[in-house]
Amino acid sequence: MSAQIIDGKKVSSDIKAELAAEVAELKKGGLEPCLAVALVGDDPASHVYVRNKEEACKLIGIKSIKEQLPASTTQEELLALVKSWNDDPSVHGILVQSPVPSQINEHEVLLTIDPAKDVDGWHPFNVGQLMVGESTFESCTPSGIIELLKRYNIEMAGAKAVIVGRSNIVGKPVALLLLHNDATVEICHSRTKDLAAETKTADILVAAIGKPKFITADMVKPGAAVIDVGMNRTEEGLCGDVDFEAVKEVAAAITPVPGGVGLMTVAMLMGNTVKAAKQQAGVVERSIV
Ligand code: GUN
Repeated sequence: MSAQIIDGKKVSSDIKAELAAEVAELKKGGLEPCLAVALVGDDPASHVYVRNKEEACKLIGIKSIKEQLPASTTQEELLALVKSWNDDPSVHGILVQSPVPSQINEHEVLLTIDPAKDVDGWHPFNVGQLMVGESTFESCTPSGIIELLKRYNIEMAGAKAVIVGRSNIVGKPVALLLLHNDATVEICHSRTKDLAAETKTADILVAAIGKPKFITADMVKPGAAVIDVGMNRTEEGLCGDVDFEAVKEVAAAITPVPGGVGLMTVAMLMGNTVKAAKQQAGVVERSIV
């Protein structure tokens, strides 16, 4: 039997509809959530991602500010922009689209963003909050994965979760979130010995490698839930890290690419922006200083 397709398009539009209703109420009370995005340089994929974020803001009723900066932008110029948004009470969420040009020190940029406005959940303060299990801004792709698993009633407690990829923006934070949801978690990476032997133990397999169709059917345990975080641009178009056509015949549930995790990232970012606005307006308790 072919796997259930986890429909990120449907879940992300449900979440956006829920947020739109919430924002309409907030606006009645005089609070308009606002997300400010800096886009440095000419990376074509980044332009697409930022446009998707702007469209989601529009749909939900979130105000969006976009600063498009030239590839030659200096560190000082970018930091000055971030600081101006930190100091602007009408801006609730700040995001600097990644990747940035090589003259920019991205870590320093992240450290400069006010953690209370860090809707990406990438500031080391928020990463630390995630580590200790405190409510904070969770990184959007990992929290989108958890949301998909929850909405499809895929049991995390006691499940063996194997993550392939150890990046700061997906592999490590999704491991922590799965752990907080009582999964038994293993992170694999390029130096893992006998990767297939590890991935075959997974009830939940998360592929975040960045290599097209890297996870093949023989690497998947029958009945597993397979989450594909890959976004690889190939000659045949956008393609995930999982060999979807073959793996869907082995897995019990699987996310497609496109139409899976990618759409969830934007939905969770919108949720974080609304949360940031409510925290800064004192509508909900601030979880951070
Ligand atoms: N580049 C690709 N995905 C993301 C994201 O979620 N946030 C930021 N800031 N940059 C990205």
